[in-house]
Amino acid sequence: MAKKLIKLALLVSAVSIGLATTAFAAKEEAKPAAPAAAPAAAAPVELVSGASARMLAETCAGCHGTDGVSGGPATPTIAGLHGEYFVEVMKGYRDGTAYATIMNRIAKGYTDEEFSKLASFFAGQKFVPAEQKFDQKLADAGAKIHDKWCEKCHAEGGKILADEEYYILAGQWTPYLKYTLEDFKSGAREMPKKMKEKFDGMVKKEGDKGVDALLSYYASQK
Ligand code: HEC
Ligand code: HEC
Repeated sequence: MAKKLIKLALLVSAVSIGLATTAFAAKEEAKPAAPAAAPAAAAPVELVSGASARMLAETCAGCHGTDGVSGGPATPTIAGLHGEYFVEVMKGYRDGTAYATIMNRIAKGYTDEEFSKLASFFAGQKFVPAEQKFDQKLADAGAKIHDKWCEKCHAEGGKILADEEYYILAGQWTPYLKYTLEDFKSGAREMPKKMKEKFDGMVKKEGDKGVDALLSYYASQK
């Protein structure tokens, strides 16, 4: 116990020294101290273990916004995300089976238990739809395309549902969804087999315009 405390104290002082030196260096270079200091504060993993869900979640805020409501455009809002999907996708990022540009590196730093804590924290936050411009005519066309090809699995236009698993499409950032659909289309991100059948059918019938219409429809959902 005492040994552990000493170790902690050493870590803490190492961090403060680290902070002091980076702050000093930053001053010399006349750069703002905050970004330079951030990595030093995030470094010691031992201090993080056993941390509260909110503390863990704060590391995500820089990209996913406060409490998971992203300021956009290419980072998804994760407030209100379904807990099971959250854990599943984070594990996929960590073991490299889920396609990612950034999250694969980030997910490597967390245990299963921390994924669960983060999942329940973000599932409990309020989803706020992104304020985005959209073309009403395209959105109307997109509503029909969604009903025909996607609604079966993404009920109510891809909104958050009370008692089924869901993925947030309605009110999610358009650029994020656009990149995601492009990754699905190119095969970079693998689709579930049954979704692939529908998605490919939709693209064959409606072309890229169908994708644009769907994106306008999701952006129109508040
Ligand atoms: C440097 C920016 C950045 C940070 C920090 C970050 N994320 Fe992400 N996150 C992204 C991006 C970008 C994506 C889209 C996937 C990709 O390209 O990596 C994403 C995707 C996700 C998704 C999938 C969302 C979906 O709808 O499929 C989850 C869940 C997630 N992040 C959770 C987290 C958690 C939890 C943290 C903190 C431990 C975190 N992220 C930190 C940028 C970030
Ligand atoms: C047979 C069921 C099914 C159908 C039909 C379906 N999807 Fe999906 N969709 C899924 C599942 C399951 C996932 C989660 C995939 C994963 O875990 O990576 C998903 C994920 C997604 C995502 C990623 C969400 C995120 O947060 O990253 C998007 C976007 C999406 N679907 C769009 C569509 C569109 C557009 C259509 C219609 C053309 C469609 N889906 C039809 C089952 C379906």
